[in-house]
Order: sequence, then structure tokens, then C-alpha cells
Amino acid sequence: MSLFNVNPVTVDDYRRRAKRYLPRFLFDYIDGGANRETTLASNVNDFDRYRLIQRVMKNVDNVDTGTTLAGQAASMPLALAPVGMAGMFARRGETQGARAADAIGIPFTCSTLGICPVEEIIAATGKPIWFQLYMLRDRDIVKALLKRAENAGITTLVFTVDLAVAGMRLRDYRNGMIGTNLASKLSKAAQLLYSPLWLKDVGIKGKPHTIGNLSQVVPDPDDLNAYKAFIDAQFDASVTWEDIAWLRDLWPGKLLIKGVMEVEDALAAVNVGADGVVVSNHGGRQLDSVASSISKLAAIADAIGHRAEVYLDGGVRDGLDVLKAVALGADGVLIGRPWIYAMAGGGETGINNLLDTFQREIRTGMALLGVNRIDQVNRDLIELADAPARLDTGLEPKPLRHTRAV
Ligand SMILES: Cc1cc2nc3c(=O)[nH]c(=O)nc-3n(C[C@H](O)[C@H](O)[C@H](O)COP(=O)(O)O)c2cc1C
Repeated sequence: MSLFNVNPVTVDDYRRRAKRYLPRFLFDYIDGGANRETTLASNVNDFDRYRLIQRVMKNVDNVDTGTTLAGQAASMPLALAPVGMAGMFARRGETQGARAADAIGIPFTCSTLGICPVEEIIAATGKPIWFQLYMLRDRDIVKALLKRAENAGITTLVFTVDLAVAGMRLRDYRNGMIGTNLASKLSKAAQLLYSPLWLKDVGIKGKPHTIGNLSQVVPDPDDLNAYKAFIDAQFDASVTWEDIAWLRDLWPGKLLIKGVMEVEDALAAVNVGADGVVVSNHGGRQLDSVASSISKLAAIADAIGHRAEVYLDGGVRDGLDVLKAVALGADGVLIGRPWIYAMAGGGETGINNLLDTFQREIRTGMALLGVNRIDQVNRDLIELADAPARLDTGLEPKPLRHTRAV
């Protein structure tokens, strides 16, 4: 990095800073994916398989990036994705994410496995957030969590369906994040010593490091191993669409089903009453070698039509990626790693700045696409980078521009 590049701007700039700041096992936890990380790479790289279409002389004097997400006004088609243990990457991290999201006017999603409880996050802004839920074997705990979320003022539930079991994140084994043997413990201790700033600000001043939303039901809330044992025992691998129907009956607010990659699953979600789906492979942390989420988006958006909202996450790294997803049929996108890198690398101001850059990229991109409103960003504004015959994109229902007969 040049001596004169003093201001971090892009996700990559913040990633480099986060790497210097965080203990290695925490950086690997946010940065890595499952197995050989093939899907993690495809999520990012496959955005390059699509190209935006430049239009000119369109009067773009009134560009407005605003839209509606899950029934609420948002300043752009973007939300912060749920990230477990976000509060380990910066002091009380979930509150920093929620404040930054609120400052620019987009939704923040709290994970079931967040460090801060929902009440603490909502108190940081006084505004509703989205809450992400995993199904637990003990349905009474689920019911209690839903009641708690409802009482706290949460309007949108994001139910994650792609974690029947946790994926094989090999970095977590290698660096000692998972493992209680002596080598793991010594390695982790050494990593902490190499990260004195993090150790002081988050390791010591950021306590308690409990999983806030579950601290009342886990036997020893100060022991992360007890949490892991609880999660291993409680994450329910037997969940089916019937359980979502049960959930739908219980939850009065908006329900988004996160983690579908196939048309059939997306339709099943809509059929049990979901208000939206999130096309997602969990950021490449679950089934490695599954396709990128952007490559699956168009077919799912076409199949769902206007019956429910369609979101996408995985690999979104700038405002133009957001526009590509919207052009292919998404109502909005979520970002996971980007806001964590920005927070670890630059604190709450880092998230503020990154989100501001996203919005400026979206606004500039819209002007250069020749549109003033988000609902004008559609398939007419996107094409394949390569010959369409080489890709199975599922785009047939609305042919891409350069495949049209002239
Ligand atoms: C470290 C980490 C923890 C995550 N924890 C959760 C979680 O608790 N619940 C969930 O639904 N998704 C979780 N996700 C997935 C994100 O919500 C999102 O799908 C993914 O990060 C999107 O990909 P991106 O990081 O490329 O933006 C996590 C992702 C990461 C990287």
C-alpha cells in the first residue's frame, strides 16, 4: 500500500486494515469460507460475468436511490446482513452496525448469535431492526425468542434455512478457533498478544462476550465452550417447510427466508407464506462448490415475480454490484463481510464511510445508466460479459439485451 493512500475507501481497503487489527483467528473467521472456499470466490467473481449498459442523454437530474425494503422506506436497496458474534470484531459491534445503518437509513439485521442482545441494539438508535433466527430443537426457546423480538419492536424476521449443520470452515480448525487442545490454546494466546489494540478495546472493554440473545438459556453464559455445546445440541437439523408454516403462524411481522438457491425452494418458501426470500449460500460458508448467489438470482426472481420480495447476498462489494443485482431482479441486497471489515478496520466511522461510498456509487451508477429511480433499474440495463451460450444464467424469460433479435 502506498504511503499516501491514507483514506480507506473500498471493501478491500478496510479488509487490509481489519487484518492488521484483529487476532488471526477472528480475521479468518470473518474472511474465510467452507472447505476450499470455491463458492466464496465465485460469489465475488461472478458479478464480473455481467456488464451494465451505459446510456446517455436521458436527463438524470433527479437521481433518487431510495426504495422500500420489507415494507419500510430505505435510502438505498441495501441492508446489513446478520453476522454471528459481530461484537467480537469491535466493541459492542452490533450497536455500531445498527447506528451506522440507521444514520444512512437502511435496515440492520441482528443474528441469533450476536454478542449484543436485541434490546441493547435497539436502545442504540431507538429504531426497529431486523432479527435473524435459527431453528432450535427446543421450540419453547424459539417461541420465547420470537416474543422477545416482537416486544422489542422488531418488525422483520429473517429465518435462515441453509444451516442444517455448520459448514466445514477449515481455517477455524487450522488457527485454533475451534479446538480445546493445548496447541489451540497456545496459538490463540499468541494471536491475542499480537493484537494489543483489539485486546484492550474489545477483548477487555467489550465484555460481556456472551451471545446476548441466548444468555438466559445457556447454562454458563461466560463460557464460550458452553455456548458451542449448547448450539451443537440445539441447532435443529430436522427442520422442514412444515416448521416454517408453524413459524409463520406465530410471527405477525414480515418473514424473509434466507438461504435459498433453487427455484423450487424459493417457491416453497413463498407457498408457506414468506414475504420474501434471500438468495444466499451463507457467503460461501456452508456448501462449498455450490454456485454463486448472483448466478441463481435471475431465475428465482422470474419464478417469484411480484408474489414476494427477492433479496440477494454473497459477494456484493460495491454499489455497482448492488445495481447488477437489482437489474437482475432483486428488491435489495445484504452485505455481510463488508460491514464487518469496515467496522474492524475503521470503527463506526468506517461503516459510515463505506455505506456512504456504496450510496454514491449507486447514485453515480444510476445516472450513467440513464435512470432516476430504483424501479427503473431492470434487465434492459444489464448484459452478459461473454457469449450467452457459454453460460446457463436462467435468463430466458427476459432475454438479455444483446441476445434480442433486431
Ligand atoms: C463470520 C460470519 C458470520 C455469519 N453469521 C451468520 C448468522 O449468524 N446468521 C446468518 O443468517 N448468516 C450469517 N452469516 C452469513 C451472512 O448473513 C451473509 O449471508 C453473508 O455474509 C453474505 O456474504 P458476504 O459476506 O460476501 O456479503 C455470516 C457470515 C459471516 C462471514
